[in-house]
Amino acid sequence: MTAAMDPRELRDAFGAFLTGVTVVTTHDGDDRPVGFTANSFASVSLDPPLLLVCLARSSRNFDTLTGAAGFAVNVLSEGQKDISNTFARPVEDRFAGLDWQPGPHGAPVLANVAAWFDCALDKIVEAGDHVILLGHVKAFGNGGANGLGYARGGYFTPGLTQKAVSAASSDTEIIAGAVAARGGELLLVEDGKGRYALPSCAIAAGQSPEMLRNHLVRATRLQASIGFIYSVYEDTGAARHHIVYRCELGAGEPAAGRFFALDALPLDRLADPATADILRRYAAESALGNFGMYVGNERSGRVHPVSGETSR
Ligand SMILES: Cc1cc2nc3c(=O)[nH]c(=O)nc-3n(C[C@H](O)[C@H](O)[C@H](O)COP(=O)(O)O)c2cc1C
Repeated sequence: MTAAMDPRELRDAFGAFLTGVTVVTTHDGDDRPVGFTANSFASVSLDPPLLLVCLARSSRNFDTLTGAAGFAVNVLSEGQKDISNTFARPVEDRFAGLDWQPGPHGAPVLANVAAWFDCALDKIVEAGDHVILLGHVKAFGNGGANGLGYARGGYFTPGLTQKAVSAASSDTEIIAGAVAARGGELLLVEDGKGRYALPSCAIAAGQSPEMLRNHLVRATRLQASIGFIYSVYEDTGAARHHIVYRCELGAGEPAAGRFFALDALPLDRLADPATADILRRYAAESALGNFGMYVGNERSGRVHPVSGETSR
């Protein structure tokens, strides 16, 4: 590790790169399907057809994947967040209840993925705490669905953005809310009746999330930056549309609201039941950070000089 670099901050900076999400699969020695979530996928060459994916040395499937004749890369579609979560957690049988079949070259291909590539293992390249698996594509399929997106430790989906655009062009009132995070905590505001809610404000159709940012800065007196859309939903009766954004808050004591640790969210004291689902989902997805270097929710404005030799 280079002396001047904080690994956590380096991980967060890597996380600024927008990627898709894949599940890399193969069979173990007992012919059982195995797989893990990976966003380190890249296409490499058309002729010959090559792709790569990086595998952590700490993976429980390290020996299986590096010893297999091949592997498949399943590019998840935007409705497959749950599959991504399952394959990133230490679940015993990640394939339980999943629809899949062996690809033409033998590795498990999941149903309804955006695309899949069934590969022969071409080469393993040593790469620090990971290895690079270079795959020679033997067969592939392209379902045409939108892929699931991933950036800064969170998923994003083209469909959600589309839904927000439709909501914003409708006549109903639009409430912009924020899952406002700092470190492992979320800021919630009190509604005056002892219940908590996401910080939010009404916005007019066509107004940008900048209005939400201004509202947050005014209310909390903290720095705020708005990220991707996290959820879009309607009140019962469709009286109002809610667009919930990811948000990062800066350092300091908030002038309004209170930070809650993700494992101590006041789920039974929420003003709006829909908020509970959002908070539960956020907490579950954030917990994925415990299983890899791939999830980070903190932003850093610091500049890190890349100096010195790396040493292991
Ligand atoms: C979005 C996302 C992307 C990930 N990308 C990779 C990756 O490219 N390579 C990797 O080794 N692990 C990656 N991980 C972490 C693994 O999925 C996670 O550590 C998993 O539990 C490994 O399972 P295993 O130990 O059973 O192989 C990622 C996790 C998430 C949530």
